Amino acid sequence: MDARGILATKRDGRRLSDAQIREFITGYVAGEITDYHASALLMAIFIHGMEEAELAVWARAMLESGRVMKFPGISRPKVDKHSTGGIGDKVSIPLAPAVAACGLAVPMISGRGLGHTGGTLDKLEAIPGFCTQLCEADFARCLERTGVALGGQTPDIVPADRKLYALRDVTGLIESIPLIASSIMSKKLAEGLDALVLDVKFGSGAFMVEPSRGEALAKAMLALARDFGVRATALHTNMARPLGRMAGHALEIAESFDCLEGRGPADLRELVCLQGGEMLRLGGLAKTLDEGRARVARSLDDGSARATFARVIEEQGGDPRCMDDRARLPKASRVELVRARRDGVLAWRDLRALGGAICELGGGRVKLGDAIDFGVGLEFEALEGAAVRAGDVLARVHHEGRGLARALAQVERSFELVDAHAPQPLVLATWTA
Ligand code: URA
Repeated sequence: MDARGILATKRDGRRLSDAQIREFITGYVAGEITDYHASALLMAIFIHGMEEAELAVWARAMLESGRVMKFPGISRPKVDKHSTGGIGDKVSIPLAPAVAACGLAVPMISGRGLGHTGGTLDKLEAIPGFCTQLCEADFARCLERTGVALGGQTPDIVPADRKLYALRDVTGLIESIPLIASSIMSKKLAEGLDALVLDVKFGSGAFMVEPSRGEALAKAMLALARDFGVRATALHTNMARPLGRMAGHALEIAESFDCLEGRGPADLRELVCLQGGEMLRLGGLAKTLDEGRARVARSLDDGSARATFARVIEEQGGDPRCMDDRARLPKASRVELVRARRDGVLAWRDLRALGGAICELGGGRVKLGDAIDFGVGLEFEALEGAAVRAGDVLARVHHEGRGLARALAQVERSFELVDAHAPQPLVLATWTA
């Protein structure tokens, strides 16, 4: 196959035809188009972008490179959520069982952490025995029995994304809105969903730091959802500060358990209720967002969300006793305190440095396949905007000795103590497809 005509079209800033897109995606997955041709095309897309209709054809070709899951045994509405991620973003973990307890089915394919953000799959694996490597039959069984399936991408799900994402990663071509939108949406659409809630973060810990870029990504994903006939809403939420008080795998699992018991930090509960309420509304189980929110809040307070998660853990091979006995979760053996050096108000400046700190401690990956220490992480004592005195504890660093000095330097870089600071809102905007 001669890919040069396809490359020349995009190189010159023109729209790819539907036939060119299909030829490229099928040829690349079949190994008939080389990585160097694909890199050149991705670079041209990175520079020139894609029109909305062109992107829809590209995303469909990606989706059709693999299987779309079907769950004939499930009569509940199938609704998922996707987050672009950030520091302490554990929302999916309490959210999935909470909305399942309210009647939805949540077929959730998640990713692993790479770089400064953690991945839901890795966090779940901090639960002793929890298995996220589910084949399609296992995935369907979990979904039927508990209303939730929490797994990773299988080889049959969007193989085009598997190859293209790996290539983008090594060629510096991740941060392109059409390429991100098609990558995320092709995987979500392969779940055979009725509806989807997107949580697009803004701020220094977000994938898209600038709100305007986050908005463009959200709108590109919503346009794809519309094109595929999937009801969708995008929320633009704050990642200029960590979410909740914990960042690190087992620490975030413990905080998720708190949320499932009607406790825990207010911002985490707020996002679980808001996103869950919208999932119920989109899935037709609530007439309004407020009704949906109230139902999700009730599931957290009455124990039904927690009981659902205990069943999910058991179904996926994990040990639900860790919900009652937190000592069964991995735990770092040492704690170092970070104290305020002066009086002032806490203002976060660079959340990526917090992700870097967790990586230094052994709690993150530099490259796919690196082992993770589930017990290490950060616990935030002071919240954004809090007035603190010199010597007050700002954070606890849970560690095993490895990388501690470098981690502490990164934590120090992540914040400032200032005279005054006004935090941004938790939710900046909401858009519906
Ligand atoms: N997450 C994805 O799944 N794909 C991207 O391109 C970026 C983030």
